[in-house]
Amino acid sequence: MSIDDKVRSIVKEFKAYVPGKSKEEIARNYGIDPERIIKLGSNENPWGCSPKIEEKLINEVSNLHQYPQPINPELMDEISKFTKIPVENIIVGGDGADEVIDNIMRILIDEGDEVIIPIPTFTQYAISAKIHGANIKWAKFDEENGFKLDVESVLNNITEKTKAIFLCTPNNPTGNVIPTEDIKKIVESTDALVMIDHAYIEYSKEEYDLTSWALKYDNVLILRTFSKVFGLAGQRVGYGVTSKKVVDYMMRIKPIFSLTRASQVSAITALLDKEFFEKCLKEGIESREEIYNGLKKFKQLEVYPTEANYMLVKVKNGMNSSEFCEALLKKGVIVRDCYSFEGLEPYYFRVSIGTSEENERFLKIMSEIVE
Ligand SMILES: Cc1ncc(COP(=O)(O)O)c(C=O)c1O
Repeated sequence: MSIDDKVRSIVKEFKAYVPGKSKEEIARNYGIDPERIIKLGSNENPWGCSPKIEEKLINEVSNLHQYPQPINPELMDEISKFTKIPVENIIVGGDGADEVIDNIMRILIDEGDEVIIPIPTFTQYAISAKIHGANIKWAKFDEENGFKLDVESVLNNITEKTKAIFLCTPNNPTGNVIPTEDIKKIVESTDALVMIDHAYIEYSKEEYDLTSWALKYDNVLILRTFSKVFGLAGQRVGYGVTSKKVVDYMMRIKPIFSLTRASQVSAITALLDKEFFEKCLKEGIESREEIYNGLKKFKQLEVYPTEANYMLVKVKNGMNSSEFCEALLKKGVIVRDCYSFEGLEPYYFRVSIGTSEENERFLKIMSEIVE
């Protein structure tokens, strides 16, 4: 007998998650000055987080020996004001939106239940669903049709056993949004929980925001995060907006202290600094246009329209995505090689918005590699 015999068989099937590459790793592996490296691989905010957070964090240091509040009323109030959703319909996650995804699986899934995931999409859904014992039914974002959601592929997979359906919109990595009427059709066809992942919604058109649907439908959870436009990926704060019933169930199993004092202070300050938020959003959208228009000029690339802070690019110069991304890495540019996204051929990469200087250098390096 060894410890191997005690570990769940499903865990043995897992491979460790492959995260986006870090600056430190590339500097070490390729002998490049870390200052020269451009990180456009993880859909972060290139302008960082609100400058007001630093002082708040320093002040919080003297409290770090005390446990944080499991629910911080000020944070709940600020999220409520920001989303225009009552506090009772909000649940905050301390490992970002990832925690909310995992908690949803923890409350819903018994061994053998089914979860529908259209692919290519954010890989965390399948990881969480599988570990809790779900069988995954794959639906698709149709490559032939500009990665439009194939609604029938979702509807045809709904059975008595369906517990959840994940709809990422804007979708990661394709960048497009799912038409509202398609989401409505799915939500109204099932009692299963439909998780509408709005991690990138701030970058999309204001009228598209479906957050208020959480008040209209019992079976909808809208996923939001501080990791993107608020620039707090390193603080790990996300939240779900959903029916009071679902909030109540999630509160029973949520890790109690997963939101740290530091992450709570950071998230509150980020919400209060409206000016910084507006600036990041405006410049983010300009940056997206800059990269999109720059990449469009290369006939060896296909660039997909996007409503997020990144875009999907198909390489058509004879290289596969891994060769292409490796060539970029050698020149100090990190993008996301999409080979590990289920449902995509090995010719795609995803590039996130950067500052103007980063975009300019990125596009120059691209021209050296593409041609
Ligand atoms: C679509 C989508 N959902 C959720 C997340 C998770 O966000 P968080 O950093 O809040 O865990 C990400 C992160 O990249 C994402 O792309």
